[in-house]
Amino acid sequence: MRRLTVPKIRARKIAGRTSEPLVMLTAYTARQARLLDEHCDMLLVGDSVGQVIYGLPSTLQVTLDMMIAHGAAVMRGSFHSLVVVDLPFGTYEASPQQAFETASRVMAETGCAAVKLEGGEDVAETIAFLSRRGIPVMAHVGLTPQAVNALGGYGARGRSQEEHDKIIADGRAVEQAGAFAVVAEGVVEPIAVALAQTLQIPVIGIGASAECDGQVLVTDDMLGMFERVPRFVKKYGDLAGTISNTAAKYAAEVRARTFPSADQTYQPKD
Ligand code: KIV
Ligand code: NA
Repeated sequence: MRRLTVPKIRARKIAGRTSEPLVMLTAYTARQARLLDEHCDMLLVGDSVGQVIYGLPSTLQVTLDMMIAHGAAVMRGSFHSLVVVDLPFGTYEASPQQAFETASRVMAETGCAAVKLEGGEDVAETIAFLSRRGIPVMAHVGLTPQAVNALGGYGARGRSQEEHDKIIADGRAVEQAGAFAVVAEGVVEPIAVALAQTLQIPVIGIGASAECDGQVLVTDDMLGMFERVPRFVKKYGDLAGTISNTAAKYAAEVRARTFPSADQTYQPKD
């Protein structure tokens, strides 16, 4: 199974609609990537790694070194999915040149084939600069978590006409600039539908609409690792419960001196 390429992902949207929606999940570790790889078209090394793995309050504290370390791990653990690595806050906004330096480092040091960055019209020049230089860019519009302080929270976007128009304009701008796909996060459904119907590039929804050309979720959210998740998350598992129950069994056996038993103990003659 050869790894999916950007042109192959791009080509899945023919005549305005993907025949079969694209499947994307986040991955942060080699083992997680290995388990998710065969089920996905794309793996996103999201800067959500900050909250999910490091317990940070937002994505704003995530560093480039963190993204590169996790991106390289996910590449080592996967061989089928297209791996997309998020550019973290503060490493691409200053100029197209800064974005190129960051993105080229990410690609060289992880081996990934695409990067993702947040923003619409404001980052169109940067997306064009990268795209023309051989760096495939996935854009990210709507609720952009790196802008949480400017947006004032993580609420859904696009309820006012002004916001609606802005997000549609952002989608058009990133397509025009050469993005190969765009994530639409936390937008009211009519915006997601309009983007999916009018853009020629795949629109990957999260908190958006089933009408999108694909879906992405934070893996740990959908696995049920957290009690509290955004409304748009569906918990497909209860990994928190499984891990807690498993740890409880181990703790009880250690305290009862029933672990380790003979099976897990070395003797001089066996
Ligand atoms: O960082 C992330 O996990 C993301 C997805 C939620 C789209 O950007
Ligand atoms: Na992200």
